[in-house]
Amino acid sequence: ARHGCLSNPCFSGVECITASDGSWECGPCPNGYRGNGTSCEDVNECDMVSDLCHKVGGLQQCVNTEPGFHCLPCPPRYKGTQPYGMGVESMCEPYNPCKDNSHSCHKYAECIFLSHFSDPMYKCECRIGYAGDGIICGEDFDLDGWPNQDLVCGANATYHCKKDNCPTLPNSGQEDFDNDGQGDACDKDDDNDEIVDERDNCPLMYNPRQYDYDKDDVGDRCDNCPYEHNPAQTDTDNNGEGDACSIDMDGDEILNERDNCPLIYNTDQKDTDLDGVGDQCDNCPLVHNPQQTDADNDLIGDQCDDNQDIDEDGHQNNMDNCPYIANANQADHDGDGKGDACDFDDDNDGIPDDRDNCRLVSNRDQTDSDGDGRGDACENDFDNDKVPDIFDACPENNAISVTDFRKFQMVHLDPKGTTQIDPNWVVRNQGKELVQTANSDPGIAVGFDEFSAVDFSGTFYVNTDRDDDYAGFVFGYQSSRRFYVVMWKQITQTYWEEKPSKAFGISGVSLKVVNSTTGTGEILRNALWHTGNTKQQVRTLWHDPKNIGWKDYSAYRWHLIHRPKTGFIRVVVYEGKQIMADSGPIYDKTFAGGRLGLFVFSQEAVFFSDLKYECRGEQICTSLTDKIYLNIL
Ligand SMILES: *[C@@H]1O[C@H](CO)[C@@H](O)[C@H](O)[C@H]1NC(C)=O
Ligand SMILES: *[C@@H]1O[C@H](CO)[C@@H](O)[C@H](O)[C@H]1NC(C)=O
Repeated sequence: ARHGCLSNPCFSGVECITASDGSWECGPCPNGYRGNGTSCEDVNECDMVSDLCHKVGGLQQCVNTEPGFHCLPCPPRYKGTQPYGMGVESMCEPYNPCKDNSHSCHKYAECIFLSHFSDPMYKCECRIGYAGDGIICGEDFDLDGWPNQDLVCGANATYHCKKDNCPTLPNSGQEDFDNDGQGDACDKDDDNDEIVDERDNCPLMYNPRQYDYDKDDVGDRCDNCPYEHNPAQTDTDNNGEGDACSIDMDGDEILNERDNCPLIYNTDQKDTDLDGVGDQCDNCPLVHNPQQTDADNDLIGDQCDDNQDIDEDGHQNNMDNCPYIANANQADHDGDGKGDACDFDDDNDGIPDDRDNCRLVSNRDQTDSDGDGRGDACENDFDNDKVPDIFDACPENNAISVTDFRKFQMVHLDPKGTTQIDPNWVVRNQGKELVQTANSDPGIAVGFDEFSAVDFSGTFYVNTDRDDDYAGFVFGYQSSRRFYVVMWKQITQTYWEEKPSKAFGISGVSLKVVNSTTGTGEILRNALWHTGNTKQQVRTLWHDPKNIGWKDYSAYRWHLIHRPKTGFIRVVVYEGKQIMADSGPIYDKTFAGGRLGLFVFSQEAVFFSDLKYECRGEQICTSLTDKIYLNIL
C-alpha cells in the first residue's frame, strides 16, 4: 500500500492522509454522507429527522437529494420559508420552546417537543433516574417511575408525585392491598392475616385458617373455583368464576360444549370452513384445520401458513394489506383492505393524503377553524381513537393507545426440552409490569400489538441472588423463527447441554437476530445461549465489549429504538442515571418490524417494570430527548 493515496482510495471529495510509514487513511465523509471515508453513502435526512419540514396530514413534506434535502413549498394560503440543507448536524432543533428555555420543565427533566402538533407543544418527562410530573422531579432509586420522596407538585398534578411505596423494588403499579403505605411488592404480609405472603394461599385476602378444599394452593376464600383444582385461576370473561368451573367461559351465552370459540365472545358462531372452529378464533378461517396447529407461533395455522413475505414485515403476501410495502402494523384506518402504507387516501374521504388536513379521519369539508393546518375533525386526536395525542402511545394508529401486556402469547422456545420448566408470567399494573417467577426453559411473552417504527423501554430487575442467567426483551417478533432479541447474561457460562451445538454465553448485553430454519427446539435453544453466530439460526449483531453482567437486586432501565425502514437499531441500558451499555447505531434490515415481548432463559424472579412502548415515525431523531439519548447527531 505504498503511496496508497496516489490511487485515490477515498470517496470523491474526501481527503487522503499519508503517514510517514507509507500507510494512508481517509478523512471523514463529506457533509450529508455517512461512511468510513473509503465509501460514503448519502444520508437520507428526511428519514432520520422528523421535524425538518412542515407536515401535511402528518406526513413531512421533505425531499431527500444526494446529498442534502429540501422541503416542499408551503401549502396554499400558508407563508413560510422553504428550508433546505445537508446532513443532520444540529438539525433536530427547529424553533421550539424546549430550545429557547421558555419551557417550565424541571432541571432533571427532558423537554420533549411534540413536532407532531401544528401549535408548538411540549411535554416534560423526568430523566432516567428521576420521577415526578416533569415540572418537579425527584430521585427514583428503583427506576419504576415513582420518586423516593413525596414531591410538592402543582395543585392538579398528581402524576407520579407521591413517594414510592416500595422505594427499592420496582412496582410501577404501586399496588397496596391493605393501604398501609407499604406496597404489596415489599410488604411481607399484604392482608395482615399474619401468614406471610410467600406461604399465604390468599395473600390478598384475610384468611388465617388457610382452608383449601381442592388443594390447588389457592385458598377457598380467594379461589375462583373452590371445588376444581385450577392453580392458574384463568377467568376469561372476568366474571369472578374461573374457566375451570364455568359453563360459559367467554360469557357469550353459548355454553362451552356448543361454542365454536369457547374462549372468544362470538355470538354469531360463524364458521366459514366448517372445521368446528369459529372464524373469530380460527387461525385459518378459510381452510379446514380442526387441529389449529401453529408450529412457528405466528398466529397463522400451519395449513394456510406459507411464510412467503416479500416485504419481510411479518405478514405473508396473501394476507398482507400492503404486500409490497413493509407495514408491520397493518394499520388500515378506513378498513378498505388496503393498508395506510399503500393507500393514497387513508380515510377514504376523497381528499388525497398529501393534501388532507386529517389524513386518518374522514372530513370532506376540511374545516379548520383555527387555521393551524390541522382539521377540526382530528384537532387533538389525530387517529380519532378518543385518546388525545399527547397521551396516545400511537397517535397515528387507532389500534394502539397504551402500553399493555395483559394479554400475550406464550412462546416456548424449547417446548419439548425437559431440562427446565416453562416460564410463569405474572401480570401487574394493567399490563405495564410483568414478573417471571420460574427458573425456566427459554420463553417469550409476546404482546399482540404490532409495530413498524417503535421505541420500547422498561425497567429490569432481578429479585434474587439465585442464578446468573439470561433475561431481556424481543422486538420485531414475526414468529418463533424470526425476531430480534436483546438478552443479558450475568456470568459467562457454557450451556450444560453440549448437544446439538456447544453454546458459550458471555456475560453482558447482546443484540441478536434470530432467523432460524428449524424453529423452536434444542438447536435454537443452544444457538440463543451462544454469544456469536450459529449458522441458519442466530446472528449476534452486537455484544457489549465491556461484558458487564447484571447485578442482583439492581434496577436497570433499557431504551430501544428501532426504525425498520433504515434498519436503524440502538439499545441503551442505564444503571441508575448512568449509561451502562450502549450499542451505538446498528443497522440491520432482516425484519421490517413486528411485535414486542419479554424474554427469559433459565432465570427466575425477573421484574419487567414500568414498560412503555411508543410508535414513532421512521425518523430516528424525533425530539431533543432522543438527541440526548442517542448522542448521535
Ligand atoms: C385545577 O383543576 C380545576 C378543576 O378541574 C381547575 O378549575 C383549575 O383551573 C386547575 N388549576 C390549575 C392550576 O391547573
Ligand atoms: C433468513 O434465513 C433464510 C433461510 O436460511 C434465508 O433464505 C433468508 O435470506 C434469511 N433472511 C435474511 C433477511 O437474512
